[in-house]
Amino acid sequence: MLSIEEMKIYLKDNLIENRYIHTLGVADTAIRLARAYGVDEKKAEIAALSHDIAKNRTIYELQDIIKKNNINLTYDEEANQELWHSIVSPIVAKEIFEIEDEEILSAMRWHTTGKENMSKLDKIIYIADMIEPNRNFPGVDLLRREAFKDLDNGVLQGLTHTIKYLLNKGIPIDINSIKARNYLLLKE
Ligand SMILES: [Fe+2]
Ligand SMILES: [Fe+2]
Repeated sequence: MLSIEEMKIYLKDNLIENRYIHTLGVADTAIRLARAYGVDEKKAEIAALSHDIAKNRTIYELQDIIKKNNINLTYDEEANQELWHSIVSPIVAKEIFEIEDEEILSAMRWHTTGKENMSKLDKIIYIADMIEPNRNFPGVDLLRREAFKDLDNGVLQGLTHTIKYLLNKGIPIDINSIKARNYLLLKE
């Protein structure tokens, strides 16, 4: 596996500047959350650094990688191209960063939609992506406080926020986000 410094050099060269800055923000937030919730900080940092590794690829490149890896998209995934980079990021991170750790790859895979029964690391990357310091939307400060107070509730609020946003915009909602939210709701 590449070192953290080597990963950063690759990302700086291969992501647009704003996305690189966002990535560093996610890493910083993920490390702090990992510390707060007793999760391996190094894993959190690596997952955060690589979560958007495929986001600079064109829709055609993403489609090509999905096809070559024999991944069958569900109806919802097919309908939402915004999700494709999260499907492809683990594949690219495996190849370029030589990441084999399944927990890290899972956190990358589910960072956009969430899923039911997420691991602590899945949750940390999901919410760190939403609340990193460069994010700015109504309610983000409340979400930041909640994420550090109670991880499950932070993720629940994050899912609710995103689902409401998609509903208002008339954009399809991936079934995994609904399942993730129901799972957390019913667990309470
Ligand atoms: Fe992403
Ligand atoms: Fe991101």
